[in-house]
Amino acid sequence: MEKTKVTTAILREMKARGERIAMLAAYDYPTARMIDEVGIDAILVGDSLSNVVLGYPNTLAVTMEEMLHHTKAVARAARRAFVIGDMPFLSYQASVEDAVRNAGRFLKEGGAEAVKVEGGRSVLDKIEAILMVGIPVMGHVGLTPQWIHQFGGFKVRGKSEATARMILEDAKELERAGVFSLVLECIPWQLAKFITESVEVPTIGIGAGPYCDGQVLVLHDLLGLSGQRVPKFVKRYAKLEGTIANALTSFKRDVKAGRFPTLEHSYEMPAEELRRLVKKSKRRR
Ligand code: KIV
Repeated sequence: MEKTKVTTAILREMKARGERIAMLAAYDYPTARMIDEVGIDAILVGDSLSNVVLGYPNTLAVTMEEMLHHTKAVARAARRAFVIGDMPFLSYQASVEDAVRNAGRFLKEGGAEAVKVEGGRSVLDKIEAILMVGIPVMGHVGLTPQWIHQFGGFKVRGKSEATARMILEDAKELERAGVFSLVLECIPWQLAKFITESVEVPTIGIGAGPYCDGQVLVLHDLLGLSGQRVPKFVKRYAKLEGTIANALTSFKRDVKAGRFPTLEHSYEMPAEELRRLVKKSKRRR
């Protein structure tokens, strides 16, 4: 497996030569190691950590400290994949200073190589400030989950000409500002295709159809580890929940029935040492 570290320049070159980019949202060392080893190009430590792994109801609750904790684990595993830390809700919206300081923490403490920021022109000043200090930024437009209460739910964005134009303009402004890539989430495939053809930076789609420069999914969705109901755009490549439940049930049954552990899974004491132990303890009685 090619081990040259993926960079923002490499991601741009991939778009230029028409090579699709594969990215996953993941949150820990063992899964990041496997993702890296199979040659997935980028790992996003998504703020979906909040609901997928930490059990919060949505992405709004996760904190900078929690994001950093998981980014460190992923960064330790990623030898080739490009690592992006997702800026959580309120880590950048309140001020330019917050934005720069928190983005910096992802690189300095988390070991990430870039950050992702949700939103278009409304957060452009924050994105420009982060870029000014040399931190690569991935933009994210369309259905941006941190704005969910304003949008009124998880609905596809950009179906009307007016909302599509807003998303397109946001994408172009982000490119002008200098983002290295753009996530397009839950927008019609025609709009995603049009944006992809209108910008030079790679677009990474999630629920945005087949014509983006790359695709991202949440690891747990892909593996079948996120319950029964998943959005239409998710393709399940495995159904691990059933496999894991079977293994856990077998373990429980074996323990209750005294079938685990057997001597096969136990350590042995040399007979001579055991004999001495028994002899000495008898003497002491
Ligand atoms: O947090 C996340 O996982 C994301 C991606 C799915 C784009 O933002």
